[in-house]
Amino acid sequence: MNLQNLTDTARALVANDKGLLAMDESNPTCNKRFAKLGIPQTVDARRAYRELIVTTPSLGECISGAILYDETIRQQKKDGTPFLKVLTDAGIIPGIKVDTGAKDLAAHPGEKITEGLDGLRDRLKEYFQMGARFAKWRAVIAIGDDIPSRSCIEANAHALARYAALCQEAGLVPVVEPEVLMDGDHTLEQCRAVTEEVLRTVFNQLNSQRVMLEGMILKPNMMLPGFTCPPHQEVEEAAIGEQQFQVRLTDRQPEEMEDVDEVANITVKSLWRTVPAAVPGIAFLSGGQSAELASARLNAMNLRFKSQLPWALAFSFARAIQQPALEIWQGKESNVKAAQQALLHRARCNRAARRGEYTAAMERT
Ligand code: 13P
Repeated sequence: MNLQNLTDTARALVANDKGLLAMDESNPTCNKRFAKLGIPQTVDARRAYRELIVTTPSLGECISGAILYDETIRQQKKDGTPFLKVLTDAGIIPGIKVDTGAKDLAAHPGEKITEGLDGLRDRLKEYFQMGARFAKWRAVIAIGDDIPSRSCIEANAHALARYAALCQEAGLVPVVEPEVLMDGDHTLEQCRAVTEEVLRTVFNQLNSQRVMLEGMILKPNMMLPGFTCPPHQEVEEAAIGEQQFQVRLTDRQPEEMEDVDEVANITVKSLWRTVPAAVPGIAFLSGGQSAELASARLNAMNLRFKSQLPWALAFSFARAIQQPALEIWQGKESNVKAAQQALLHRARCNRAARRGEYTAAMERT
């Protein structure tokens, strides 16, 4: 294991105000999103969609790394060029999702444990040889009546730490993703309390498994109220429909601007308390927020706090970058250019948000 290489890669993933593009939806998740838009759920449609993404002109100006899925990392453009080559030629570091999904946690109704540790060492070796330089593992923590349990948090944190240590052994930077879900009617305060407990447990486990913090990226949720928390019904509409981004920054009411600032303040305060300074970057997941709110909230964090923070505050969005493009594409070749423009627009908005320069006017251009 070469600590310098891991540190260099981790830093490169959050350098120059760029961020990560998560395009690692499993086949069932990708098919579900296609089905909602009437796009055929076939290997070829998934390949064509991923070709649209990786060939978006100028994507490398805003995106430092792309997280692929096992099917995608082995695919090529129609002309036979491997996606891995397209990405590296664009200056984008290839990454790979390596967990095998969240399964029911035995004896814990409503809770999940992420699987994928068996055989992971060999899979990581293969992905490294193919050209991947970082990996992702997502744990999910639900908030509800009497959950999350301590045992669910500990089991998921332990698995994340075992995965991260194996990644570093293989020369891959682990993206450590403990996602506290937005499903439910919990308040922002409940999300904050649970997220802090989760992050403390995750870093305890990372330390006990001897993970080098300089060579990893944390991918957390922002501190947000649940989708059905009463004053936030409008966020729920955007998230549940996934394709309906109804919360428009341009139409925002004063109280929604307060929400952006409150989320930014509480999120940064919680991370400040729980994430060691040795971690080079924090790259948020979007979690079902509208694309515009995800940009606005990331922007508010960087605008207010960037110069005071030990780590970079970046993005690792899937839906909040891809969804507008997917809706435009609709599976049609004739829509590829317009969809690529929408994808690049969101990538540019999020790069601006890293600089604290994102404005509502960007959504009107
Ligand atoms: P979202 O940004 O859509 O939440 O996805 C991020 C991700 O990679 C989930 O694992």
